[in-house]
Amino acid sequence: MIEHKKFSNLETDRLLLRNVNHKDVDFIYRLFSDERVCEFLYDEELFISRNDAIEFVEWSKNPEVKGCNRWILVKKGANQEQIGTCGFDYWDRTNNIAEIGYDLWHEYWGKGYMKEALISAIESGFNNMGLNRINAFVALENINSIKLLEKLGFKNEGIYRDKHLFRGKYYDYYSFSLLKKTGINSKVNSTRPL
Ligand SMILES: CC(C)(COP(=O)(O)OP(=O)(O)OC[C@H]1O[C@@H](n2cnc3c(N)ncnc32)[C@H](O)[C@@H]1OP(=O)(O)O)[C@@H](O)C(=O)NCCC(=O)NCCS
Repeated sequence: MIEHKKFSNLETDRLLLRNVNHKDVDFIYRLFSDERVCEFLYDEELFISRNDAIEFVEWSKNPEVKGCNRWILVKKGANQEQIGTCGFDYWDRTNNIAEIGYDLWHEYWGKGYMKEALISAIESGFNNMGLNRINAFVALENINSIKLLEKLGFKNEGIYRDKHLFRGKYYDYYSFSLLKKTGINSKVNSTRPL
């Protein structure tokens, strides 16, 4: 019997989503050492050396074995430019729940790229991982991320108090979720603004 991959590479109109590899170290370093990109990521300090990015790539290896992954978002076309990442973590296989995370290089914000990538990632989570519920946790100030989740049909279930201790202060997060039975907001089109 053929066993289907849980974390296949994916393709959308404008993007390829391929699992992270060593070619991505420089981009990962640039992304996670950038203060704009990381402004509301209170679960991790800014990367301060390429070694941080190498560790991230190592952590992302063998997704099928580890049960978590990170796709690199690559713009289709001659340059094959890396523009962001997304992926699943904290897979609870008993209850078919996992958490989604995503980060886009700031020059590409406001162009619908992450919405396009997440539609594909979420569909893969429901179909290939067999998820019933996808969690997303967002800092209260992260308006762009909140708008994105709401557009996709995630429900805001309330505040997860003191979720992360960061630089001596606790931060509340919104707890969002999407269920398979309600699915992605049907009005969402992968290439047009809502
Ligand atoms: C969160 C994040 C991914 C959101 O990115 P984004 O570009 O705003 O999200 P989208 O891909 O949904 O793009 C939506 C915007 O693109 C616009 N847009 C332009 N062209 C579009 C197109 N062809 N298709 C769809 N939307 C388009 C939409 O109108 C919308 O703009 P608006 O919010 O002003 O109405 C980004 O801000 C980010 O990476 N932040 C830093 C990391 C981070 O915080 N990650 C999340 C942690 S929880």
